[in-house]
Amino acid sequence: MDYSHQPVMVDEVIEYLITDTKGLYVDGTAGTAGHSIEICRKLEPFGRLICLDVDNEAVRITSERLSQFKDLVAIVKGSYVELKDILGKLGIGKVHGILLDLGMSSHQLELSGRGFSFLRDEPLDMRMDEDTELNAEELVNTLTREKLEEVIWNYGQERWAKVISRAILKERQKCPIRSSKQLSRLIEGAIPDKHHPRRIHPATKTFQALRIAVNRELNNIRDFLKTAPQLLEKKGRLVVISYHSLEDRMIKHTFRHWSSSNSYPRKLPVSDTGKHSSMRIVTKKGIKPSENEVYLNPRSRSAILRVAERC
Ligand SMILES: C[S@@+](CC[C@H](N)C(=O)[O-])C[C@H]1O[C@@H](n2cnc3c(N)ncnc32)[C@H](O)[C@@H]1O
Repeated sequence: MDYSHQPVMVDEVIEYLITDTKGLYVDGTAGTAGHSIEICRKLEPFGRLICLDVDNEAVRITSERLSQFKDLVAIVKGSYVELKDILGKLGIGKVHGILLDLGMSSHQLELSGRGFSFLRDEPLDMRMDEDTELNAEELVNTLTREKLEEVIWNYGQERWAKVISRAILKERQKCPIRSSKQLSRLIEGAIPDKHHPRRIHPATKTFQALRIAVNRELNNIRDFLKTAPQLLEKKGRLVVISYHSLEDRMIKHTFRHWSSSNSYPRKLPVSDTGKHSSMRIVTKKGIKPSENEVYLNPRSRSAILRVAERC
């Protein structure tokens, strides 16, 4: 089976994440296990890896692909936002490293049949976690025009957000918008031809915005970052790969806030247990994939990797 997702910046992830080959690590967004496999290969027999994903299919694929490492690995269907509770249930307090590779997998885009791609004719779902309620069809057919514009503008940074939201409202007065193709054609028609972007499909940004809204992607990162430092051992690392400027900005600012809190009074934020945790930035500048990687895997082109370490 070709899972088609090529993991991004694998060498860099391994180099920054694994500081102790006998340590305990979390891949918070296992996807199709591209990074997880490499982490397992690097770990010695006493090392362990906990893999999480909210997508049932990703959990199934990860379990299959990591079956040869079953003594090292625990695979859990769950959100990285709940990592503290998930670790608690496994009897674990802190780990040596956490990886988040944000966004969606190629498997979700191309094979899931959940309407992530504007090139396919699929039900407009876009949920990564099919156990949640809100899907893209509901969002597109029920939000007010203003709210739709806000979502498309904020999460897609789409300058045609007003025009697109108007076109969506007009269409849904005639009939509900149920498929990815119906929506992408509508967006293509709403943006004047001469303003169609040259390098991407006209629906790219709107689809991205809807996916981010349906899966609460920015809220999740924000909530996770509040608890992340307390889940790391001293010298433990948080490695995050983001693909969207809004995500990257949030990560960059949080890391800066953490590290500036290291100068006097040195210890922030206060964890639930009353103890303090502080972090330092390991990658002063975000790391980008090499030209060669972008050539071999064009989807990596927008990736930025940042690392912070527990002091
Ligand atoms: C870019 S893919 C990860 C690919 C993976 N690193 C690999 O190499 O195969 C992102 C994954 O994160 C998952 N995901 C999104 N939000 C999540 C969350 N809150 N908790 C856990 N997984 C999440 C998605 O379902 C998707 O499988």
